Amino acid sequence: MVDSVQVQGEGFAYPVHIAAGLLDDIELWQQASLRDGVLIVSNDVVADLYLARLQQTLQRAGISASSCILPDGEQHKSIANWQLILDQLLTMHANRRSSVIALGGGVIGDLAGFAAACYMRGINVIQVPTTLLAQVDASVGGKTGVNVAQGKNLIGAFHQPGMVVIDTDTLATLPQREYLAGVAEVIKYAMIMDAELCVWLEQHAAAVLRRETAAIEHMIRTSVTHKAAVVAADTREQGRRAVLNYGHSFAHALESQTGYTQWLHGEAVAIGMHLAANFGRSIGCTDQHCVERQLALLKRFGFDLSMPQQLQPQQLAEAMLMDKKADHAGITLVLLRSIGEAVIKPGFELSQLHEFLQHSMAA
Ligand code: NAD
Ligand code: GLY
Repeated sequence: MVDSVQVQGEGFAYPVHIAAGLLDDIELWQQASLRDGVLIVSNDVVADLYLARLQQTLQRAGISASSCILPDGEQHKSIANWQLILDQLLTMHANRRSSVIALGGGVIGDLAGFAAACYMRGINVIQVPTTLLAQVDASVGGKTGVNVAQGKNLIGAFHQPGMVVIDTDTLATLPQREYLAGVAEVIKYAMIMDAELCVWLEQHAAAVLRRETAAIEHMIRTSVTHKAAVVAADTREQGRRAVLNYGHSFAHALESQTGYTQWLHGEAVAIGMHLAANFGRSIGCTDQHCVERQLALLKRFGFDLSMPQQLQPQQLAEAMLMDKKADHAGITLVLLRSIGEAVIKPGFELSQLHEFLQHSMAA
């Protein structure tokens, strides 16, 4: 049975369909009423696995689709590849009623979403996330963009999809390390807004690690429901949506300082959450019990929270200043008040973060 979560905000409403086998569901794709040209954007790994299947289903639904296949990897979430997608849309004479289908993980979702946001000032994009991370987070909520040398996701747009199609079968081919990176984002929801989910993760860790279907479906449905609620309340991150960035200010700095090669995004988020909890403790916002419970959960899922020796605390702190959450008043951090409750705290100074990172990295 198809489980659907509705995402609704000012000026948009779309369904997130969650079920096994949706790539083969002709009726679902017929209902999407795709016309006037469809471009499937994917990468070489995902295309080898799922492109033919999706194209066949679309064909049976009476929809013909071209494809744009990019190289795999975070380093390819670039302006050059964004332009390549736009070039292909121009070449196929796509118009304002054409659609882009993003078939892949968060990299493809962000990149294809950003191209769709810009083509003729915005055309329809359908997100078909194939990693757990993209299914529980990136495919919902309309953040799109690319990385530049100065930092991650610094160029982008808010562009909500017309539909999100989560075929849980696609996770069967996802490597365990990638799967666990997705679990990090589920842990994030537990920490910032759902103490019950934290208990559930603690109690069902073995089932999650074994990738049991029921556990996966629970994680996706719960996460998407939380994300939908946050996005509905604050679509363009004027306030509360920033809680979803818990651990991300540290994570983005770690990723950019290591050229996006040291960790998967979810792994960097796991370290970022650990740093954020410790920082919270250092300023009296987060209690010791909370830090330890999060640490135990991260360890249960096998996250390595150590940081390479060559990283410089000063450079890391400076990279955090480049983050979108920083402004003239300083760096804004999401910190835990308790398990399931996050607060957004602005105004931290570079020197304060430098000192904290120096201390953490020496420990
Ligand atoms: P990814 O897109 O790089 O995918 C991870 C790896 O898995 C890639 O090698 C990919 O080819 C492979 N893969 C994807 N699906 C597969 C499948 N079903 N079987 C086998 N291999 C598969 O990384 P990700 O973790 O999905 O996403 C990370 C990106 O998402 C980052 O760029 C991050 O900034 C972005 N993100 C965006 C949002 C948002 O709200 N827009 C939220 C979180 C993360
Ligand atoms: N992943 C953070 C957000 O969508 O706001």
